[in-house]
Amino acid sequence: MTREYIYHRFERFWHWVQAALIIFLGVTGFEIHGLFTFFGYEQAVQYHEIAAWSFIILIAFAIFWHFTKGEWRQYLPTWKNVRAQAEYYVFGIFRNAPHPTKKTVLSKLNPLQKFVYAGLKALIIPTMVITGLVYMFYRYPQRYEVLSLNIGGLQTVAVLHTIGAFLLVSFFVAHLYLITTGHKVTSNLKAMITGYEEIPDSEVMAAVETVRTGSKETVGETKEVSR
Ligand code: HEM
Repeated sequence: MTREYIYHRFERFWHWVQAALIIFLGVTGFEIHGLFTFFGYEQAVQYHEIAAWSFIILIAFAIFWHFTKGEWRQYLPTWKNVRAQAEYYVFGIFRNAPHPTKKTVLSKLNPLQKFVYAGLKALIIPTMVITGLVYMFYRYPQRYEVLSLNIGGLQTVAVLHTIGAFLLVSFFVAHLYLITTGHKVTSNLKAMITGYEEIPDSEVMAAVETVRTGSKETVGETKEVSR
């Protein structure tokens, strides 16, 4: 077994704080939506706002980190290996087949994850932040204060914010399942806690063989591993 450092300290901190905030925003948001009562409507709105501002601050740090470290390239979608990865999740995983791609600190997302995470970061999270802020600064009846938004109504904004929330819940459920699909059931979870992933020697040998036979690994491209 080889231990490979995959997730930096800031990355792990950001991941877990983001996960906690999104879960909390989901719980308070769906209470505001009227799905259940837990904190009580007014408290839920207040907690939702506090969590939303914390999320925005975290996003600002994460953007800074991604651009200064060049880590944004991890999310550049590519068609390479998409099919192999999809086949692995649908068939291979149930036949104990080897993972079609190998995680390294240079390339930690598999091709399907690149698509999903790019969509999440470029589309869903910005939509949630923008619609959330519009929701927050909208005033009815119009009061023309500084920092109040005077738009016709909130319907579209509320619908978009709620659709985004349902998409995030779906992502969360899929994410919980995918956590268990590492080399061992707990490998992915452990990696996101300690930063280190345990990789079976057979896969390391296969990766070395791939390099020896001339295939190059670049940032944003996952290496193919065959056994
Ligand atoms: C920075 C990000 C966010 C901001 C600024 C924000 C802001 C808001 C605001 C101001 C409201 C309306 C509260 C009220 O009725 O007074 C709201 C509602 C809601 N939020 Fe967020 N939110 C954010 C992120 C999220 C996330 C990540 C989720 C889900 C995981 C979420 C789920 C919801 C839901 C379901 C509602 C109820 C929508 C409705 O019934 O119309 N929000 N949000």
